[in-house]
Amino acid sequence: MRKTPAIVAVLAAVSLAAASRAQVKERPLPHITKNDGRYALIVDGAPFLMLGAQANNSSAWPAMLPKVWPAIEHLQVNTLEIPIYWEQFEPRPGQFDYTVIDTILTQARAHRVRLVLLWFGTWKNGSQHYMPEWMKLDPERYFHLTDKNGRPADSPSPFCAASLEADIRAFTAFMRHLKAADPQRTVLMVQVENEPGTWGPLRDYSPAAQKIFEGPVPADVLKAMDKQPSSPSVSWQDVFGPEAEVCFHAWAVATYVGKVAAAGKAVYPLPLYANAALRDPIKPGAPGSYESGGPTDNVIPIWKVAAPALDLVAPDIYMRESAQYLKVLELYHRDDNPLFVPETMGSAAVARFFFSALGLQTIGFSPFGLDYTRSRPATAGAANSPEEFLAPTAQNYKLIAPMMREIARLNFEGKLQAVAEEKGKLTETLRFGPWNTKVSYGASRNNPPAGNSEPTGRVLVAQLKDNQFLVAGFFCRVDFSPADADKRRQFLRVEEGEYKDGVFKFLRILNGDQTDWGLNFGSDPLVLRVSLATY
Ligand code: DGJ
Repeated sequence: MRKTPAIVAVLAAVSLAAASRAQVKERPLPHITKNDGRYALIVDGAPFLMLGAQANNSSAWPAMLPKVWPAIEHLQVNTLEIPIYWEQFEPRPGQFDYTVIDTILTQARAHRVRLVLLWFGTWKNGSQHYMPEWMKLDPERYFHLTDKNGRPADSPSPFCAASLEADIRAFTAFMRHLKAADPQRTVLMVQVENEPGTWGPLRDYSPAAQKIFEGPVPADVLKAMDKQPSSPSVSWQDVFGPEAEVCFHAWAVATYVGKVAAAGKAVYPLPLYANAALRDPIKPGAPGSYESGGPTDNVIPIWKVAAPALDLVAPDIYMRESAQYLKVLELYHRDDNPLFVPETMGSAAVARFFFSALGLQTIGFSPFGLDYTRSRPATAGAANSPEEFLAPTAQNYKLIAPMMREIARLNFEGKLQAVAEEKGKLTETLRFGPWNTKVSYGASRNNPPAGNSEPTGRVLVAQLKDNQFLVAGFFCRVDFSPADADKRRQFLRVEEGEYKDGVFKFLRILNGDQTDWGLNFGSDPLVLRVSLATY
């Protein structure tokens, strides 16, 4: 048999994979599980919380990785999200280059970090910019969608069978390689495409797409969107009115992404997801004011039926107002969808929402653009230096990393609640059966809470036993009171400790000034185990 370059590449990949299989014990597959209405990501057999960071878009090249790992180490990230570029992976049709993936896998293992790989395939932020050159140079075959004026838009057509076929072939090769090259399960999840959909045109207006748009809405879409049409052949426009084009495009894009995901999953069943560029969760603008076709909150049910191979759809949250942020978390924390925040801002104003996401059993949280490649993201906010930009995330992860498994387990078991400060809300109460936990912001000694000057307070409280709690957080005061108003609380023992190898290690008992006004959390990581009694 004559060995073409493609065959040589495949043989090399297979032998590398065989070698790594021979040397390494295969670990269980990461997967998402659900119990009692709560989800968890199971890694190495137990719940795992991804303390994530996403690299900048152009940071996955081997020459850039030395500027990624130091940031990841500094942050105590346990999961790096990093792209795999189709243009690099398939430089010629059918010829796959595994060198970059293998470099990332090897270096991640050396840094003891897990990965979420982002397949920058047909869609990246609504465009086809990561398609290989041989596709970009053949727009007749790999066609873009057609806008209202009959012109090609800067967005791929979800009805292009040749692009779909090419993406399926490439994504399958990628997943097959991961299966062979990663018995260690360094890769926990894969994101299929990136913010798929279209900016500008609401959908494909080509004659072929128009015909489908005028045809009947598929029955499973009607059911998922809770629509009961008057006749079996009712059109998208009739059913969805002003949102018809967005719904139609979501169905078309999700169907395409779903086929890519299903093909990849058939060879290697890792958890898969798609991420969304959001619309305003409280005052959503009209179609056209947000990316059309992606898994925005209004079309999640369409994505669920059209792309069942995806384990979840996830919000990229670039918002800083607490009302908006919390609403997004609520919209994507659904009975049919585990919460995961694959992109958000790393700024101090947003870091606290990591705790809000924890309060909804998020399986991970991952601020964007946290590396030292000088690709300063727009999300850097007012930070002057890279360290300053990393600081809020580093603060969160320094606290949680040593007890990550414990937090993931308690959360999966429904024993944990977590909240973040909202401007103007000075206190809030968490209820745990016989005990209420009052969280106050900006309280000093015996002065009443006034709120922090910037809302940065955040805390998690987990019930370890009937009368024992784990409390950890920043910039707030916590106290407990019996739910029974006739009783008073007394602290039996407030232990300050630190987690080592997942186990709480006692440091000292806090008492006197440290507990008489409540339990005070400042800027340093503080973990308390609190035993209570009544009198
Ligand atoms: C959201 C995208 O998903 C990311 O890849 C990146 O482009 C950020 N926006 C903005 O920097």
